[in-house]
Amino acid sequence: MSFDFPQDSVQSNYSSSKPSDESVAISHHEEIDAELSRLFNKFKTDGLPIEVDFRELVNWIPYSDSYTHYIHSYPAKLLKHIPIFFLNSKILLPEKGSVVLDPFCGSGTVLLESMLSGHNSLGCDANPLARLIAKVKTTKLDSNVIRSQKNNIVAKAKRLRKFAPLNVTNIDHWFPKKTQLHLSKLIRAIEGLPESNEKDFFKATFSSIIKKVSFSDPNLSVPVKIKPSKYNDPTTKEKAEKQLLSVENTDVLSVFEKHIEQNIKRIDLLEQVDTESLKCEVISKDARKISSSLSPNSEPLKANSVDFIVTSPPYAGAQKYVRSSSLNLGWLGFCEKNTLRDYERLNIGREHYSKSEYKDIIQLSIEEIDRVLERIWEKNPLRAHINGNYLLEMKSAIAEMYRVLKTDKYCTIVIGNNEVCGEPFETQKFIRLLAEQTGFKTELVLVDEIHSRGLMTKRNKTASVINSEWILVFKK
Ligand SMILES: C[S@@+](CC[C@H](N)C(=O)[O-])C[C@H]1O[C@@H](n2cnc3c(N)ncnc32)[C@H](O)[C@@H]1O
Repeated sequence: MSFDFPQDSVQSNYSSSKPSDESVAISHHEEIDAELSRLFNKFKTDGLPIEVDFRELVNWIPYSDSYTHYIHSYPAKLLKHIPIFFLNSKILLPEKGSVVLDPFCGSGTVLLESMLSGHNSLGCDANPLARLIAKVKTTKLDSNVIRSQKNNIVAKAKRLRKFAPLNVTNIDHWFPKKTQLHLSKLIRAIEGLPESNEKDFFKATFSSIIKKVSFSDPNLSVPVKIKPSKYNDPTTKEKAEKQLLSVENTDVLSVFEKHIEQNIKRIDLLEQVDTESLKCEVISKDARKISSSLSPNSEPLKANSVDFIVTSPPYAGAQKYVRSSSLNLGWLGFCEKNTLRDYERLNIGREHYSKSEYKDIIQLSIEEIDRVLERIWEKNPLRAHINGNYLLEMKSAIAEMYRVLKTDKYCTIVIGNNEVCGEPFETQKFIRLLAEQTGFKTELVLVDEIHSRGLMTKRNKTASVINSEWILVFKK
């Protein structure tokens, strides 16, 4: 299968729909390219990383919700200002309607921004929840059709009598009995719809309420039950108790209806955008083997077929994408045939390995990396294996990015450093070494402080918080 992407048929929506004056629109491209040229030249002269603030670089972009970005939460989402800066550069993407790839697309920030900047986009992600959100986020829908189907779903859910639970991990621990009953009726009613973009919209919106109607702490990305007893401060304790009580009394159907209305407002904004003839597709589950479609036995994506790559890959042991989606995956029916472990196995940066899997130390044949892995191995062989295998798997993902990218085109990787067993683990440096070993040329290294850490919290004793984002720009 090949991709037939139209070139030059659309305008950037940030430049054309926001400022009404065409000259202002042009000046944003010019502003970006002037800044990018300055950065390229500076890096060419001294080869040193340059500190930047992407919110400032594209300060005409609001920090709040826009278009369909907030249709569903997702851990470690990319700051949208980063792709907006690169996607609107004429140096990197001289033609509108180019093909942009995000091999670790998560909830689709890059895919949506590519669309809004007038480019076609392709995405891959190992997590089926991410693939669903990314698809819904980038699909135009008619809100009148959604409203009338919503009424049918709610009416059908009210009529259903039987409780048919899905395979949700530890369901009684996370949901009150009444909530389980209503969630099961709702998802059965949604599942009754024929396969369609609208059905995916309802599934994504259904999924977006799961955490809110559960006993899990809304401030944490992985499910952790709210426990009033762990707080000494009486006010916080009382707040947690009230939260539990409100979960007990939640009216699931009205929460669902409210979220449908909020998401309709978002898709209405997307509907107004001129994206005619642009394509956006989540095509693959694995960044290491990018195929031309999600269907089994599909062809590999053609070599030299992509104009630009921008991506934020996972970190070793820092984010548990499958665990943080476990309740959603269960309720959406993804765990009827597969287990959470099956999904986790595809995840680069995963943490679960049996002892037999790490009998020998992993080496990458890059001295700087191998020395760090050896030091970690002496302290903790499992951590050495997690990080060594992470780099090994990232190496094959980078090789795949190199294969599909056109010659002379750019690839931007957003990544942070880490700490493992008290050792600094300079992921950005190692990714750069792997990219250069693959054949990429480093054109620019930028550092942006993460102002809001969001979901990047301390996860375990041996991996510490990630403070800055490193933006590595390579050329093939
Ligand atoms: C940092 S997140 C990307 C977030 C995304 N930029 C967004 O804004 O939502 C990294 C993503 O890599 C995905 N991932 C992990 N292993 C993968 C693999 N082998 N192939 C493709 N995606 C993978 C995870 O599921 C996760 O969604």
